[in-house]
Amino acid sequence: MIKNFLIISIFVTVITIALLGFQGQRRQVTAIEFFGDMKRQAKVKYQKPSGFFSDGRAARPPVDGTIPLGYDIPGHPMQNSEVPKDDIDSPLGEFSAGTDYLNTGKMGEQWGTGLPLPVTAELLQRGQKEFTINCSVCHGATGQGNGITSKYGLLGIANYHQDKYRQMADGQIFNTITHGFNTMMAYGDKVTVKDRWAIIAYIRALQKSQNSRIEDVPEDQRAALEHEGKPENAPSQPAPAQSAKTETKQTR
Ligand code: HEC
Repeated sequence: MIKNFLIISIFVTVITIALLGFQGQRRQVTAIEFFGDMKRQAKVKYQKPSGFFSDGRAARPPVDGTIPLGYDIPGHPMQNSEVPKDDIDSPLGEFSAGTDYLNTGKMGEQWGTGLPLPVTAELLQRGQKEFTINCSVCHGATGQGNGITSKYGLLGIANYHQDKYRQMADGQIFNTITHGFNTMMAYGDKVTVKDRWAIIAYIRALQKSQNSRIEDVPEDQRAALEHEGKPENAPSQPAPAQSAKTETKQTR
């Protein structure tokens, strides 16, 4: 029995090495691929022809009627129809243009502070949406710097709930979004001016949500808060704070 087993295992070893080769050995023949290698896949390379399209070009021109986001093309047929007028005409729907506070976050040589547009519920909702799309992957849903990328090793993501960021001028945050900061890349070409301010308004709301005193609550709502431990009309769970806690637990 033992003898047979030895012979069979030596045989299997020899066959395996014969087929797969020694580790690190250079192959002269094409390797066996049990699953196709990723370098072989259905794709077209840049500047290469493709039989798939009737004009034989692999690179596709933009679809007819395409307008670059945030740009105004005079006389363009889309201008007066599908695209809301506000998005085309308003400087707020665009990317940085002027050198004023609205477009740079600077008042003279200093970072300015204050939102240069009315802070409405709508603006905050817009800010929440844009923050969730653009920022939460790193900064986390509540801004604690514990987004999904932190679990994959991105270090030093700013936690908005530090005093440093509570005190940071709105204009400086605007500038960080526009131009990036150290390891954080720039969002100036992805997030419009209006949306940058909307995000800042939302960040301020996030900061308030984690750091408020009873004096910050309107007087007529304090009683409700103290009695029930939650303000009127508030969701039954303080959701953001809770989820943030669990997120932190998973990270560390
Ligand atoms: C890919 C990850 C990532 C994304 C996405 C990201 N950030 Fe950051 N952010 C960072 C990191 C990392 C830092 C810390 C940089 C440092 O201090 O060196 C940072 C720092 C900051 C700071 C502090 C900068 C300073 O001056 O200290 C602000 C404000 C900020 N981010 C806002 C945002 C906003 C708003 C968005 C969305 C538009 C965003 N970030 C998207 C990674 C990211």
